[in-house]
Amino acid sequence: MTISTRRRFLRLAGLAGAASVVGPPARAAWGTRGRPGVGLRIAFFTDVHARTEWDTPVAMARAASAISAEKADLVIAGGDLITDGFQSAAATVAPRWQAYLEMQRAIGVRVEPVLGNHDLVAARPEDGSPASADPRAVFRSTLGVDRTWRVVDAGGIRLFVLDSVEVADDELAYRGRVSAEQLAWLGDELGRTDGDVPIVVATHLPLLTGFYQATEGAAEAAPANRVVVNNREVLELFSEHHLVLVLQGHLHVNELLRWRDTTFVTGGAVCGKWWRGAWHGTAEGYGVATLRPGRVEWEYRTYGWEARRS
Ligand SMILES: [Fe+2]
Repeated sequence: MTISTRRRFLRLAGLAGAASVVGPPARAAWGTRGRPGVGLRIAFFTDVHARTEWDTPVAMARAASAISAEKADLVIAGGDLITDGFQSAAATVAPRWQAYLEMQRAIGVRVEPVLGNHDLVAARPEDGSPASADPRAVFRSTLGVDRTWRVVDAGGIRLFVLDSVEVADDELAYRGRVSAEQLAWLGDELGRTDGDVPIVVATHLPLLTGFYQATEGAAEAAPANRVVVNNREVLELFSEHHLVLVLQGHLHVNELLRWRDTTFVTGGAVCGKWWRGAWHGTAEGYGVATLRPGRVEWEYRTYGWEARRS
């Protein structure tokens, strides 16, 4: 365990001297009797698209209260925590970050954040202001993380948080890709990880999904800004390891997919159809994954919001 991952572990376990910047620490004990990770409950909420209009802070408070009541062992936020950071100046989206932080505080435990495309701030401002030299800087400083990809040991599992967004100079503006630098880091970290340690990956853009085949046709390919284009390269790195679960966001639908020994979850969206109700049958919600011997249980839960977007 590196010093930095140990520090994070201690912070997660509530043992570190320095308090987390985003709320009280998570519980110090996890339900991991027996096999490592078995029984661990992970709350996964994604695609909040925090903003201040249409009473959405009320919705976020309700979602936070529901997530908090789950008393999960680990809470992960899957990205797109605010809306439209990518094309906005930092000052424009500052109130959205405040709205998101309010939600995270209300959840009341440490939340592991994943970067989404909307969370890049001033990557391509549309108001004529200069582009940021480091569009991830606001995410890092606001959420108190050193890096947008990292490894966290928690409750007998090893969590790999990936940064799956690559800014592009074309009409798509970005695409899903895990950078060469991350692939090298992943290889190093996995080289130090025993093959029987249960691994969970959290990524904003999906590594695997049937969404485009279900909605557009079996022979249709997903656009490069909707999935991780080098997914096979990423998954291959885990081939000698015990990758039990991949938590994904971005598509705003609730999807459960099993490929070989890994369960892939696309976790719906707190904002549903961008605060307009349900999207392809997935209402505003979040989910809870429970690790069981040889399988993962996933339950998507709505929190009773009726869209007020005008
Ligand atoms: Fe999103």
